[in-house]
Amino acid sequence: MAKLNILHFPDTRLRNKAKPVAQVDGAVRKLIDDMFETMYDAPGIGLAATQVNVDRRVIVIDVSEEHDAPLALVNPEIVARDGEEEMDEGCLSVPGIYEKVQRADHIRLRALDRDGNPLEMEAQGLLAVCIQHEIDHLDGKLFIDYLSNLKRQRIKKKLQKESRQERRDAEDDRRAI
Ligand code: NI
Repeated sequence: MAKLNILHFPDTRLRNKAKPVAQVDGAVRKLIDDMFETMYDAPGIGLAATQVNVDRRVIVIDVSEEHDAPLALVNPEIVARDGEEEMDEGCLSVPGIYEKVQRADHIRLRALDRDGNPLEMEAQGLLAVCIQHEIDHLDGKLFIDYLSNLKRQRIKKKLQKESRQERRDAEDDRRAI
């Protein structure tokens, strides 16, 4: 397994619309394994292929405390939604930012599993929110798109400043050696 590099907002590659997976083969299974490793290491509870610059409709999720409920979904598609849920969301691609977003509380979805078998499932609460957040990623959408333009611009400036500072720190480290 290998840890993958996670793109950060405002990287424009996060806006790519991912393509459906034609066949769940060894390469897709390796991608899934690498995405789980990357997500657990971050740590996070969900990761979409778009976030690691892979143009395929693949997401991984584990909302359990013990990291023992891995869920890999290929070509996920929400077929029904109802109820309303509002919770603080964060995102590995928008580090350090947490904002309230409204989502459906209950969803039904279809997807393929890690073996390429079709599955249909229902999800509620945190798991439902997480799945909606990750499918948004596959469509090039971020949770901060639900916020006001002003708020999003503030977040953009904050993250750009932080990444400039990180680059400077890295340069300082090089000079110090
Ligand atoms: Ni995210």
